[in-house]
Amino acid sequence: MFIGKPIISEEQIQIKVKELANRISKDYSQRDLIVIGILKGSFMFFSDLIRYIKSPLKIDFLIASSYLKDSSSGEVKIYYFPRENLTGKDVLLVDDIIDTGISLHFIREKILDMNPSSLKICVLLDKKERRVVDVPVDYVGFSVPNKFIVGYGLDYQEMFRNIPYLTIFKKEAK
Ligand code: IMP
Ligand code: MG
Repeated sequence: MFIGKPIISEEQIQIKVKELANRISKDYSQRDLIVIGILKGSFMFFSDLIRYIKSPLKIDFLIASSYLKDSSSGEVKIYYFPRENLTGKDVLLVDDIIDTGISLHFIREKILDMNPSSLKICVLLDKKERRVVDVPVDYVGFSVPNKFIVGYGLDYQEMFRNIPYLTIFKKEAK
């Protein structure tokens, strides 16, 4: 078996996502909020999160992928960038997990180039141990150990994104 028991259940996820959304609703009332989901990993978290946010907002997406060159550097490629003019907007970036921080660091710089009036980051999972680049993260769902996690949008080689809970992926013993 590849996939084990949930490490974070559907119920635990929903409770946490509501908590995050409540904080975001308070922080962004009366603001010109645009929530940007980083695809593909954040799609499930993003769609749950925005339906619990009560302040008015627009959405867009950003498609990026990173290639790790060695343990401390990587290359990030952006395939789709939000069309909306982000200048003067309050931007909230939403991602599934922050690991080395390389992707979010790169994406954050690109968004800052557009001169938004504010920029915050929300991630469901934080794998702190693995960080190589410091990135300011404003909303974190769960801190997770240095294990490979799949489900709820997160993949291993594009598989397992549809599992409704979070679980640890283990390669079969050889
Ligand atoms: P970073 O640039 O190392 O922070 O990598 C972030 C991206 O790598 C995430 O948005 C995920 O797509 C992917 N990633 C990192 N760790 C995991 C994991 O445990 N499971 C699934 N995807 C992961
Ligand atoms: Mg991702």
